[in-house]
Parts: sequence; structure tokens; C-alpha cells
Amino acid sequence: MKNSVKLGVNIDHVATLRQARYRGVDINSDIVVEPNVLELARLAEKGGADSITAHLREDRRHMADADLFNLRENISVPLNMEMACAEGVLEVALKVRPDYACLVPENRLEITTEGGLDVVLHRLKVSDTVAALSNIGVVCSLFIDPDFKQIEAAKEIGAPVVELHTGAYANAWGNPQKLEREFLRIKNAVEFAKSIGLTVNAGHGLNYVNVSKIVALGGFNELNIGHTIVSKALVCGLEEAVRQMKGLLK
Ligand code: PXP
Repeated sequence: MKNSVKLGVNIDHVATLRQARYRGVDINSDIVVEPNVLELARLAEKGGADSITAHLREDRRHMADADLFNLRENISVPLNMEMACAEGVLEVALKVRPDYACLVPENRLEITTEGGLDVVLHRLKVSDTVAALSNIGVVCSLFIDPDFKQIEAAKEIGAPVVELHTGAYANAWGNPQKLEREFLRIKNAVEFAKSIGLTVNAGHGLNYVNVSKIVALGGFNELNIGHTIVSKALVCGLEEAVRQMKGLLK
């Protein structure tokens, strides 16, 4: 029997909602600071999440440093920390020691055409960050466009995992020609990345409708999905929203 692809649940939007009311408040203080990121992470676990993803942005617009430490201490599935190749967040990552780190662009200059990290242009900075994290046992992945040059660069600098950016595929929904083009790019990219020994994840813009075509392609280790799951959670609760997505990944 074929293994099902794993589901990483991105819960940044839970922190975004909290920050809309409680920006500047210590999340571990005695007052009620809601929604509680850890409580929601645990519900995602109950629903079948294979990992929990949290992005510590340089501007701390949603997740706070304390969220990463709380998650690290209290969840039982692997923690995937998304981060830029920047000193201020690398310092935190080296203390948190997440299971995985996914390096993402935050600054417009670090972004390729479609929106992934430009590893070709920022090779040195990316490889220094990968080296620092790998040294303490963090498995690094690079969030890149489905582009052969980016995949080759990821391999050359020693990242064991790539996360293919599915945003262009998601945005092409409703335009059959464009969708087919973007789908083929992902298909070719996953085959190429696997052929050179990389583990391949994917994410961004995937939802309950467009995810099945990606799952059917095969070859992915894990899909990282956030917005659509947290949106559905408003209707049916996070545990159930995660369970339904897991059902689509089988
Ligand atoms: N993967 C990466 C690297 C991301 O930055 C994001 C968005 O934060 C996601 C996956 C999840 O995207 P979405 O919220 O659109 O599902």
C-alpha cells in the first residue's frame, strides 16, 4: 500500500488573531491572551497533524519567541520553524532547536519570480544558515520555486529537504491552461529533486479543493498547509478541519 503524504499544519493565523487584540502583551502572563497557540496546536495534533509549523518573522507580526519555546516544550509531533536567513531569528532557532527549519524569504530582494527563496542569488547567506542549524541537528528545508536551478542550488549547499512553492499553482485555479503549466512545473520539479536525493515537501495556497491534484502526483513527503485549515476551523473546529484535510492526503 502507498504511504500517505504527511500533513504539516501551519498555525500562524492563530497567532495573527491573538495579535489583533494583544500586541505587546506577554503571552505567558496571567491575563487571558486568546486564542492560545499551544491549545490550538494540540487540537491540530488530535486531528492528526504530523507536524506543527510556526513562522517566527523578523517583525514578530504573529508568532512570538515565547510561542516557539512553548511549542517546543509541549507538543508531541515535530516542530517545524519557518524563518528567514536572518541573525535575529537564527539566534532564537538555535535555542529552540526545532526538529525542522524551513528557510523562507521575507524581504522582497530574497524572492525569486514566483515567490520562493532565491538560493542561487543568496547562496552564501542560505548555506551559512543551513550549516548553523544542521550543526545542532535541525533538519533544514528551503522554500523554493519549482525551478531546477533553485533545486540544484539547494542540493549543492547541503540542504536535505526542499519545500516547493505551490502558490503559482494555487493562483492558476480557474485558468486551465495556466494551471496545467504550473502543475507540470511542480511535477517536473518533484521528479528532479527526488532524482538528486532530496526529500520534497510542498506548500502555500493549498486548500480542500486544489490539494488532491498535488497528492495524486505522488513523491511528496509532507504538505504544509495553514490558511484553509484555520479558515475551516472557524466553521467546524480545528481538530475536525485537520481531520478532513488528513482524509484528502490519504
Ligand atoms: N509553506 C510555507 C513555507 C509558508 O510560508 C506558508 C505560509 O506561511 C505555508 C506553507 C502555508 O501556506 P498557506 O497558509 O497558504 O496554506
